[in-house]
Amino acid sequence: MVVTPGLRPALGVASECAPLVKTGGLADVAGALPAALARQGWGLRTLIPGYPGVLAALPRAREVAQVPDMFGGPARVLASHAAGLDLLVLDAPHLFDRPGTPYWDASGRDWPDNDARFAALSWMAARIAGGGLAGWRPEVVHLHDWQAGLAAVYLRELATGVPCLMTVHNMAFHGLTGAGRLMALRLPDHGFHPEGFEFFGHINALKAGLVWADAVSTVSPTYARELMRPEFGMGLDGVVRARAADMSGILNGIDTEVWNPATDPHLARPFTTPRGKAANRRALLAEFALTDGGGPVCAVVSRLSEQKGLDLLLQAAPVLTDRGGRLILLGAGDRGLENAWLAAASDGVAVRIGYDEGLSHRIYAGADAILVPSRFEPCGLTQLYALRYGAVPVVALTGGLADTVIDANEAALRAGVATGLTVHPLSAETLAHALQRLCDLYADAPVWSRLRANGMKAPVGWEASAPAYGALYSRLAQAARARDTAAP
Ligand code: ADP
Ligand code: GLC
Repeated sequence: MVVTPGLRPALGVASECAPLVKTGGLADVAGALPAALARQGWGLRTLIPGYPGVLAALPRAREVAQVPDMFGGPARVLASHAAGLDLLVLDAPHLFDRPGTPYWDASGRDWPDNDARFAALSWMAARIAGGGLAGWRPEVVHLHDWQAGLAAVYLRELATGVPCLMTVHNMAFHGLTGAGRLMALRLPDHGFHPEGFEFFGHINALKAGLVWADAVSTVSPTYARELMRPEFGMGLDGVVRARAADMSGILNGIDTEVWNPATDPHLARPFTTPRGKAANRRALLAEFALTDGGGPVCAVVSRLSEQKGLDLLLQAAPVLTDRGGRLILLGAGDRGLENAWLAAASDGVAVRIGYDEGLSHRIYAGADAILVPSRFEPCGLTQLYALRYGAVPVVALTGGLADTVIDANEAALRAGVATGLTVHPLSAETLAHALQRLCDLYADAPVWSRLRANGMKAPVGWEASAPAYGALYSRLAQAARARDTAAP
């Protein structure tokens, strides 16, 4: 079975993948990497769980493997092409045939067997690498976040000889489970110690990936450095420091075909220049029943979690509305934050709780500015969509936000390189100050139009980062071959 002739085989493993299943940026990246890496000579197949929505979206799926006992029930692997992706789908109804999001039930509680659900995904990845699919074996396996972390251990336990790269999209999620689950998760006792996957008496799937993978990466150079510090390392900074020699920070790109304001099917009025945004701005205000107050229309599209700093924005928002600005929020997540935002809705602040892909595109297209006041941000994609859609990003100076936005200070404006506003250190006060600055810039039409034009020209695709991943895959594959040849 030759899947993609001429391309070197690689396997990606992720718990979500756009456009089939998405709760955040991980899905966008897992969905965009295959096309970006094909241009580097790599044919990436992506293994994802068979959630109901994924199975329903698979045209002409072929069964390519059967596993009688997949962590408590029978499973099979389906191969299919959908949305330009070469997919392998783990169809295990006892694990994945459930309503809700990939991780929670309808009331927002984690599924109690998440450890087994994603151990199964990881196990299947190792089985495939070890020859579990007739006629196809990857040269490299690319693991995304804790849900794939245990695969690094299984690849070794099954003696596949196939190297893996562990990419950390978010260090805040470890995938912890009790030590009593070792056997059920098919993990070796010898790995359960502080230099292994043990973490304060628990099994830690992310740590397993960090320790066992042949190389580790994260999604921006700044976050790669931040992860080595206790403030950002979430208890794993020591592990990251120990792997410093194998660690890289590769900035995410965005899929510039899906996110193209000139052809975006979600927009009633596609556009190519900052001026073309005007009709989208009017439509957005109308969609949210807001009047134009003469100030900037600012927006947030975000998961509602502590990470995103949106509690600070609630405190700072009056500065904006006092200056005739408007604030739109599209988000879902933490119930306390959802309620706090709903309570803040007013003539100048419109709130939509929920997840809506089409609306997110219309917001980037219509907004004058996108606000991202994150406490930490591994990369962040919303500021990249903002740049591409001519909305000025206002961001905290952390992680990938710091790597992608150039502050509109006097010098950067003079040099003609400014693309947004950065806030540091982050607090309700500094954010309020940034919103004042935003209103001042907005009122200066020539400066504002240059700022937007710079943003729309900023490189946000995969041109720079895909070669970095490609080179890393090649290096890993070559080192594994050298090991094979050297083995007695
Ligand atoms: P994270 O992965 O931490 O959530 P990113 O900025 O990397 O943050 O990616 C977030 C992605 O999810 C973006 O594509 C954003 O547009 C999308 N998104 C977040 N919340 C919503 C929502 N409520 N509705 C639609 N899209 C959303
Ligand atoms: C994570 C991070 C976000 C990043 C995304 C994709 O969810 O929170 O910063 O952009 O993964 O890598």
